[in-house]
Amino acid sequence: MTDLAPWYVRAEPAALERALVNVLDNAVKFSPPRGTVEVSLMRGESTVRDHGPGICPDELPHVFDRFWRSPSARSLPGSGLGLSIVARTVHHAGGTIALTPAQGGGTVATLRLPGAPTPPPDAPHS
Ligand SMILES: Nc1ncnc2c1ncn2[C@@H]1O[C@H](COP(=O)(O)OP(=O)(O)OP(=O)(O)O)[C@@H](O)[C@H]1O
Ligand SMILES: [Mg+2]
Repeated sequence: MTDLAPWYVRAEPAALERALVNVLDNAVKFSPPRGTVEVSLMRGESTVRDHGPGICPDELPHVFDRFWRSPSARSLPGSGLGLSIVARTVHHAGGTIALTPAQGGGTVATLRLPGAPTPPPDAPHS
């Protein structure tokens, strides 16, 4: 399920794409079978919400650490590097990323990037 409005940011396109794919990949990976993932992009704030097991409050401070994976995630594929790379890319672009428990269960990732709803006048046309 998606709810999207364009947002123009200054960042390396490949790195930004990798970061978004990482967050989406986590949401899908931790979703129950046939679970839904809700994605929105509004005024530069992007949210990805899943209905998976969620993350314990005492584990949340570790999710951006390199190689950290919750004990319950160890049966699923992954190296624990994804979110550390996401955080680096987002901070490099002047933005923020946070994972929080979603109301009613699951996890919501909130990504904010400085930018504008229209392209800057000097942007090359693509
Ligand atoms: N949507 C989510 N729901 C539940 N736990 C999550 C979610 N996203 C991340 N986590 C927890 O944070 C850990 C770190 O996430 P990260 O993306 O860095 O690693 P990974 O997905 O395990 O491996 P990789 O991204 O390298 O393939 C996960 O292993 C998991 O324990
Ligand atoms: Mg991951």
